[in-house]
Amino acid sequence: MSPQSLLTHLECSQCGKKFAHSELQTFCAACNQPLVACYDLDQAGHLLTREMWRQRPAGMWRYRELLPLQREENIVTLGEVMTPLLSLRSIAGQAGLQNVWVKDEAPLPTGSFKARGMAMAVSRARELGVRSVAVPTAGNAGGALAAYSARAGLPCFVFMPKDVPRSNLLETQLAGADVTLVDGIISDCGKQLAAGKAQHGWFDMSTLKEPYRLEGKKTMGLELAEQLDWDLPDVILYPTGGGTGLIGMWKAFAELKQMNWLTGALPRMIAVQSSGCDPITRAFDNGAPDSQFFENANTVAAGLRVPKAFGDKLILKALQESGGLAISVSDDEIMAAVAELAEAEGLVVCPEGAATWAALKHLAERNQVDKQDRVVLFNTGSGLKYPEVMQQVAGIDRPHGSH
Ligand SMILES: Cc1ncc(COP(=O)(O)O)c(C=O)c1O
Ligand SMILES: [Zn+2]
Repeated sequence: MSPQSLLTHLECSQCGKKFAHSELQTFCAACNQPLVACYDLDQAGHLLTREMWRQRPAGMWRYRELLPLQREENIVTLGEVMTPLLSLRSIAGQAGLQNVWVKDEAPLPTGSFKARGMAMAVSRARELGVRSVAVPTAGNAGGALAAYSARAGLPCFVFMPKDVPRSNLLETQLAGADVTLVDGIISDCGKQLAAGKAQHGWFDMSTLKEPYRLEGKKTMGLELAEQLDWDLPDVILYPTGGGTGLIGMWKAFAELKQMNWLTGALPRMIAVQSSGCDPITRAFDNGAPDSQFFENANTVAAGLRVPKAFGDKLILKALQESGGLAISVSDDEIMAAVAELAEAEGLVVCPEGAATWAALKHLAERNQVDKQDRVVLFNTGSGLKYPEVMQQVAGIDRPHGSH
C-alpha cells in the first residue's frame, strides 16, 4: 500500500512562492530562506481519524498522510520507535513542580532525534533520484545521515569539526561515510561543503536547506500530541541549535490545530541554549526577527554549537507566536543537570537534553513556569554518545551528594 501522502506543494517560508514537490527542491534562492511542505489538511481532517493512526505500527511512519514520502517502498528505516514520555517525579517534585515529563529520544536509531529527520530526508532524496548526499554537522546529524545513507546505498560525505565528540566521528566512519574533519565549527563545515558540492554533485542535506528533515522532526510533535491524548502540554523546552525540532513541532501543532484534533491550547515553546553559544536567546531578548552570528562559540553541548541558524527567523517566529521565550544556561549547570538526571531518575541524557532541565529550574524560580504547568522537556539523545562529558560529570561534585 502506498503511504497516501497528502503533500500538495512546497512553499517559501518568507515570500510564499510555491514549488513543485515532484521535483528535488532545496530552499528559496530569492529569499535565501527555507521551504516548508504543505498538505491538504481539509482532506486530512475528513479522511483520517485519530484512531486510524493509533492502530498502525508505532513510530513516525504511522503519520504518513502528513509526511512527504509518496511511496511506501521508498522508506529507508532503521526501526524508528515511538519514544517514551517519562514522568520526572523525583527531581521535579523537589523543585516544586508537579507535572514534568521527558520525551526521551535516546532509543531512536543512532541514539538521537536526528534519526527522525534523516530517515525522512534520505527516504525522500532517494525517492527523488538523489545519487549522493553531504552534510555539515555538529556531530549527531552526521552519524544519522551516515547510517541512513548506508542503509539506502547512497554515498555520503560528512563535514565535522575536528573536536567533534569522538563517538560521532567513529559512528560516521564506521557507516562508511567520507569524513572531512574541519578546523572550526559547523559554520566552517558548511562553507567547505558549499565549496565542493557543485563539483562533486552532492545533494546538500544541511539543516533547512532541503525541506524534508523538518518533516521528520515534525513527528516529535505528532507523537507527543498522540501520547498526551491530543491535549498538548502548557510548556515545551527544547535544546535549540539549528532549530529544526522546534520549528517542526510548531508546524505539527499548527497542522493538527487546523484539523481540529487538539482539545486544549497550544504550548509555549521555549528554546534552550548554552551561554557559550546563544544567538537565539540574544535575538529573542532584543526583540529581533533574526539572529547575529555568535563569535567564538564554545560549549560542552556540542549540538548547540550553532553560531547562526539558517532557520533563525522561523525559530524566533515560533517563540513569539507561542508566547514562549529563549533562555541560556551555563556549561556547569548543564553538567550538574546530567548528573542529577542520571542519579535521581536513571536517565543518562545528552548534555543538550540536560540543558532543558537546568533551564526549567531557572524558569520555575522566576515564576515563568507555574508549579501546576504541564511541562515537557526534550532529551534529544543518549548520554552514552558523550563519554568525554560523562567522565567530566563523574568527576564533579554531585548536587545531592551520592556516596
Ligand atoms: C543531541 C542534540 N540536541 C539538540 C541539537 C539541536 O538540534 P536542532 O537543530 O533541532 O536545534 C542537536 C544538533 O546537533 C543535537 O545533536
Ligand atoms: Zn522566497
